[in-house]
Amino acid sequence: MTHCQSENNFPAVGLAWRAPNPLDCQLESERLIIRAYRLDDAEEVFTAINESRDDHLLPWMPWAKDHHRTLESTTKYICEQMLNLATPDTFKEVGTAIFDKKTNRFLGGSGIHDIRSNTASCETGYWIRKDATGRGYASEACARTISWALSPQSNNGLGLHRVRIYCSGANTPSVKTVEKLNIKKEVHQRKDYCIESIGPTDRLGWGVMHNEWDCKNHRILPQ
Ligand SMILES: CC(C)(COP(=O)(O)OP(=O)(O)OC[C@H]1O[C@@H](n2cnc3c(N)ncnc32)[C@H](O)[C@@H]1OP(=O)(O)O)[C@@H](O)C(=O)NCCC(=O)NCCS
Repeated sequence: MTHCQSENNFPAVGLAWRAPNPLDCQLESERLIIRAYRLDDAEEVFTAINESRDDHLLPWMPWAKDHHRTLESTTKYICEQMLNLATPDTFKEVGTAIFDKKTNRFLGGSGIHDIRSNTASCETGYWIRKDATGRGYASEACARTISWALSPQSNNGLGLHRVRIYCSGANTPSVKTVEKLNIKKEVHQRKDYCIESIGPTDRLGWGVMHNEWDCKNHRILPQ
């Protein structure tokens, strides 16, 4: 997302990260289960997106405009995520589902995106259905996902070295979500992130390295 054009010309060696094989996602935090999508999630996911689409998701999640307009579209998305996990050799991203541990209700999505094997790094993102916001679920899911990304492969993690998070400076709830993690703010690009309903806004970015994160307790290590 924030590739410098010249970055594309560097050889893809570097840390030469490779995904674990087999690859799965089954995570638990205090209040949440975060796991790989299954086909029988489709109806609930579609309903959650539809209910949350207009004023909640559309301003910030471009996929909400053209995707998940039908149950078939959501089913196709889930199939793609299942395929991503089933093909570790080409693994670059996966969307995952967030559930309430007590009620098993679908709460939203998280995921790992834009894996770069030469720096063993990835991006993460999140959304929470509209009627479940304001309870800290996004921060909890994000912290747990960071632990999955940065845990060693010998400990059921992806063994990555670095996680990036980007969002528009105009997206106050998202900025607050990341700020609660206390990870390092690394990027502030002025008017570089165009939001359809607003126009150019500032792009903010944060990063966390594997030796800065407590993967057992899902929080930043004391500095
Ligand atoms: C961003 C989002 C994931 C946050 O989810 P959440 O589970 O409600 O997150 P939290 O409960 O941790 O709340 C985040 C903070 O935003 C605050 N907040 C929520 N709505 C707000 C608003 N309209 N204005 C200002 N602050 C707001 C909350 O009070 C909370 O801050 P606090 O902990 O200091 O009280 C959710 O709003 C969402 O799905 N938005 C649409 C999709 C999106 O923007 N995804 C991120 C793309 S980068």
